[in-house]
This record gives sequence, C-alpha cells and structure tokens, in this order.
Amino acid sequence: MYNPFSLEGKTILVTGSTSGIGRGVAIECSKMGARVIVTGRNQERLEETVSELKGSNHIALTSDLATQEGVEKLIEACPQLNGCVLNAGMPKVNSIKHMKRKDLEEIISVNEIAPIMLTSLLTRKKKLEKNSSIVFISSPNGVQIALNGNSAYAATKGAISAFMKTAALELSANGTRVNAILPGLVPTRILELSNSMTPEDEMREKKASQYPLGFGTPEDIAFGCIYLLSDAGRWVTGINLFIDGGRCIN
Ligand SMILES: NC(=O)c1ccc[n+]([C@@H]2O[C@H](COP(=O)([O-])OP(=O)(O)OC[C@H]3O[C@@H](n4cnc5c(N)ncnc54)[C@H](OP(=O)(O)O)[C@@H]3O)[C@@H](O)[C@H]2O)c1
Repeated sequence: MYNPFSLEGKTILVTGSTSGIGRGVAIECSKMGARVIVTGRNQERLEETVSELKGSNHIALTSDLATQEGVEKLIEACPQLNGCVLNAGMPKVNSIKHMKRKDLEEIISVNEIAPIMLTSLLTRKKKLEKNSSIVFISSPNGVQIALNGNSAYAATKGAISAFMKTAALELSANGTRVNAILPGLVPTRILELSNSMTPEDEMREKKASQYPLGFGTPEDIAFGCIYLLSDAGRWVTGINLFIDGGRCIN
C-alpha cells in the first residue's frame, strides 16, 4: 500500500530511548516498519523499551553520552543508518546567580556536545547511508520562550537548534537532511528530575493554562519524527519544527 510515511527498510538510531519521548519515538518508528537502535544508560529500562518494539532485529546499546568514550562506543557499535533521532537529554534547574561551572559542564556535555559529536562521528565513520535524516530534539525553551531557572538548559537547546542549521547545509552534499523538533511540555521523567524551583502542582496548573491543546504525549513528538525520517520529509531540511500544542502562540 502507498505510504510515504513508511519507515520500512530503514534503520534508525534513537538516543535516550529508555523512557519518555525517546521510548515513544522508538516504539512508533518500529510500528512504521523501522529497525530501531535503542540506547540509554539504564539496562532495565532499555529492555522494557525493547519489549515494546514491534518487529524484530532491533538492537539495544548502553552508553553514557556524558563522556567522549560513551559517544565513540555508541558509534562503533552502530550499524549503517538511514536516520537518527538525537534525543537523549537532561534538565538542570539553577538560578543564574547560583550557577556552578560543574553543573554547566555536565548539561552541556549531554545536551549539546553529545549530539554534535554523534553527528560528526556518524559522518566521519560513514555510518549514514545516502539521503539519511538526522533529527535533533531541541526545545522551545531557549529558542522561543524563557523559563526562570532554566538558563543552562535553554543555552544547550538554543545551541543545538543553531548547530542544526549549519549541519543541514554542510551535510546536504550527501543528501543528508538535518532538522530539529521542539516539543512543548510532555510529562515524562524529565519533570521529576528537573527539581523545579516551583512546587509541582503549582507548576502544572500554571503551565496547563499556557497550552491551548493541553500537554503532549511522546507519540505526538514521535509522529513529527516519522515525518522527518521518512520519504515524506525528503524536501525538508534546516527547520525547527515546533510541536507544542500551541504553547508558542500563547
Ligand atoms: N518532556 C518535555 O516536556 C520536553 C520538552 C522539550 C524538550 N524535551 C527534550 O526531549 C528529550 C527527551 O526528554 P524526556 O522528556 O523524554 O526525558 P526522560 O524521560 O528523562 O528521557 C531522557 C532520556 O535521555 C537519556 N539520557 C539522559 N542522560 C544521558 C546520558 N548521560 N547518557 C545517555 N543517555 C542519557 C535517558 O536514559 P538513561 O537515564 O537510561 O541514561 C532517557 O532515555 C530531551 O532532550 C529533552 O530535553 C523534553
């Protein structure tokens, strides 16, 4: 059956697929026919993700992307790819006044250096087939909106959305497309980890009023990834695609 959104015959790497958005992306890509490479640090949650994938021949790889060794180990173990969703990320809530260099270096390593080095090594090691698609998971926070206490996180996401544009230009010679998806609020583990400066109930209530279509789900983000990874997105490169339930118009 004709379906330009099919991922049949494609091998897709999804970093940070042990939970939340990455897990949803991996599952939905497998439902669209892709062979998926799932990654994260937590072995148990990685196996849970694998158990939810449709089809066979998927690969699970553990690696800590906060380190250069972890990034290199992942690329070494990766088969040839037709696409990747560079999604692994972490929050860090700190007032500017109390910013610590150690915290800044940690979040920059995971959210910024890792996806940039993964992109670099994927191309250098010729792991990307012709006409591949790279999708970064960025954030409106840092590109379009600001949130108290999130300056370090915003800096990493703004950087990745900026890097994406040059990467789209440089890698186009091989037909590689490079884009970013900027999700609005999707309730995942990241919210628990973010240890927000505002109490959780208060934050949820305040945020809910900012979302004309309510909060999102991992699948809402996965559907955008499928568009960009599939042949349906073959003329799309260098864009920041906001999938945010209307947050940025409100
Ligand atoms: N949820 C939202 O509202 C939202 C909005 C905008 C953007 N985002 C972005 O979406 C992405 C996914 O977030 P999420 O909400 O799905 O959060 P999540 O449920 O906490 O998932 C984060 C994923 O990243 C992986 N990860 C974190 N640090 C890592 C490291 N050092 N090495 C390897 N993997 C690491 C985690 O795996 P392990 O713990 O197993 O290592 C996990 O699979 C992030 O880039 C986030 O910034 C989220």
